[in-house]
Amino acid sequence: MNPGGVGFANGGSLVKEVVYDRETILTRVGELAREIEGVYSAEDRLLLVGVLKGAFIFLSDLARALRIPAQIDFISVSSYGDGQVSSGRVRIEQHPRMPVEGRNVLLVEDIVDSGITLDQVVSLLLEWGAATVETCALLHKRIASPDHEPRFVGFDAPNVFLVGYGLDHAEDFRHLPYIASL
Ligand code: IMP
Ligand code: MG
Repeated sequence: MNPGGVGFANGGSLVKEVVYDRETILTRVGELAREIEGVYSAEDRLLLVGVLKGAFIFLSDLARALRIPAQIDFISVSSYGDGQVSSGRVRIEQHPRMPVEGRNVLLVEDIVDSGITLDQVVSLLLEWGAATVETCALLHKRIASPDHEPRFVGFDAPNVFLVGYGLDHAEDFRHLPYIASL
């Protein structure tokens, strides 16, 4: 057993370098919450829709930082399989439980890479009758310009494969409290 210092994760796999430590992430999440509060009011009945699984930790920190009422739901999509390159297609594995019709939806996403996931999920939410759809992405690699650019972005990320704080590689590393390169 290793006590779990930086660099150690599942099964002894090593991460290369911490890119965003926990404190940096939490500070930025607080700032994002203030930005979101500047756009939505209590009357908007904000519905946060987290994209599983990658956004589960980000959503839980963001939701707790928000000082306006919000409801929470999830959508589960898969696009990557176990690889590091986008397959170009997004499969919906679980729809939101709540009706999104007429709702002001804030899609909460871990990272924008090709932007395909974002574009397809935003389009679907609009098809399902959401009144408004905006996106909050913790990370944006800025290598693509999605049709639906996220309104709120935590960090412009380096174009390397990142893990931790919800982000995985073949389901490993999601539990790390920081974001690291592989
Ligand atoms: P996109 O559709 O290419 O923008 O990719 C979006 C999804 O791919 C994200 O929600 C992640 O689950 C995954 N992804 C993209 N880049 C990374 C990365 O650097 N590390 C881990 N997952 C990633
Ligand atoms: Mg993933």
